[in-house]
Amino acid sequence: MSEFQNVSIGVVGLGKLGSVIARGLRNRYPAVQGLVRRANKTDVDTTTDANAFLRGARIVILAVKPAQAKETLSAWGDQLTSSHLLISVCAGLTTQQLEEFTQGRCPVVRAVTNTPCLVGEGMTGLVAGVGAGETEMRLAREVFSALGRALVIPESKADAMTGIAGCGPAFVFQILEGLMDAGIRNGLAAREALEMAAQTLIGASQMVLQTGQHPSELRNQVTTPGGATIEGVVAMEKGRVRATLIEAVTVSVKRAKELGGLAPKKPLRPRKATAARKRSASTPARRSALSSSRARRRPKKGL
Ligand SMILES: NC(=O)c1ccc[n+]([C@@H]2O[C@H](COP(=O)([O-])OP(=O)(O)OC[C@H]3O[C@@H](n4cnc5c(N)ncnc54)[C@H](OP(=O)(O)O)[C@@H]3O)[C@@H](O)[C@H]2O)c1
Repeated sequence: MSEFQNVSIGVVGLGKLGSVIARGLRNRYPAVQGLVRRANKTDVDTTTDANAFLRGARIVILAVKPAQAKETLSAWGDQLTSSHLLISVCAGLTTQQLEEFTQGRCPVVRAVTNTPCLVGEGMTGLVAGVGAGETEMRLAREVFSALGRALVIPESKADAMTGIAGCGPAFVFQILEGLMDAGIRNGLAAREALEMAAQTLIGASQMVLQTGQHPSELRNQVTTPGGATIEGVVAMEKGRVRATLIEAVTVSVKRAKELGGLAPKKPLRPRKATAARKRSASTPARRSALSSSRARRRPKKGL
């Protein structure tokens, strides 16, 4: 039996991730309550009374938007005490920022997690704040293990993990959509193609986790010389699938850093053309100069 079996858990903010965490934890920890700003219909036990919420919770899981964290924590003042353990799932917020926002009133842990927590298949990295000792980390690990896999990581790896695990489900859903369309193109019904693709993804992932073998070794086992699979593998290489995934994770990591205020904030979207720039680009001579300067910047084919 776990030493933390009856620990009381409060989740602040029942948005997309907060609801997933609260629902995922309910089976293991019956005393899960959500703090919400407005009472709304939900199957999770909720309150709008922050005082009562904080009196009742030993673990406080902060699941508000990163920009809402400071205001939320500052408003609680000394209702947050050393008997609480604050676990933040806010992307990009460092343990140091959390300690500043809470003025060192309680130990803090930064959790990098994801929505598959809903089905007990979450992936969570836990970063200890300076006040979080062995007991707090054991407690945090036990709670997030109820939602999937949990491991302790240094803060230096948190943004990279956000790119892989936090944003990763979106990338996987996009890949699954592509596989589903491929099935439809080849005569399968959407539902059956999706089921085949999703189970294949689960099966292949479990092989990696359970055998510990490198993906390339496992891929070689299903790639017979001159066979069907190698044709598809070549097509994937031509489509730069690996390079695209590396790029997708890298820009997400960069954005996570920006959201946490660790990197200079530059919008990732292309700048809107101002009226002046539109005017200066509208003459034929200017358009031709712009298109030749873009051509110079374009990488040469085959390099
Ligand atoms: N979604 C993901 O897959 C994912 C993955 C990894 C990490 N995260 C992190 O998880 C956090 C939540 O993300 P989300 O996508 O779930 O956002 P969300 O859907 O916007 O949820 C945030 C919720 O917090 C509520 N809230 C804000 N301040 C509050 C307060 N003082 N008291 C009670 N409730 C409050 C908001 O209520 P209002 O609507 O009234 O503002 C909203 O319901 C973010 O920090 C994000 O970086 C999300």
